[in-house]
Amino acid sequence: MKPQKGLTVVFQPGGRKAVVNHGVSLLEAARKAGVAITTRCGGKAGCLMCKVTIAKDETAGVRPPGDIERRKLGSALEQGVRLACQAAVWNDVTVQVPEDPLKAAVRRKLEAARRGEDDKLW
Ligand code: FES
Repeated sequence: MKPQKGLTVVFQPGGRKAVVNHGVSLLEAARKAGVAITTRCGGKAGCLMCKVTIAKDETAGVRPPGDIERRKLGSALEQGVRLACQAAVWNDVTVQVPEDPLKAAVRRKLEAARRGEDDKLW
């Protein structure tokens, strides 16, 4: 059997990459790349915390959603939202990972303080 070519998954923002085998979940690829994706259910499609976005021109990079993902995500699938624990790498793909809400709050506060709009940090 011919060895399978590694597939490259790029995580944005940041551009971290992982080379993985066909069929590996985006969550596993993220862990390999050192990208933190929050989970509570351990990858069982129960918590919906692992949502990522795949651009429309990148959808061939992941396996089409199965019944569980369709039921859990509904119309969000049309915006390219996928569950990292369920979406399997099918080709080279770029994935958008949402910013952690706590980090986003800290970043906004620091940016406001730098602009002089907020003189108290907390
Ligand atoms: S890890 Fe919980 S839904 Fe994906």
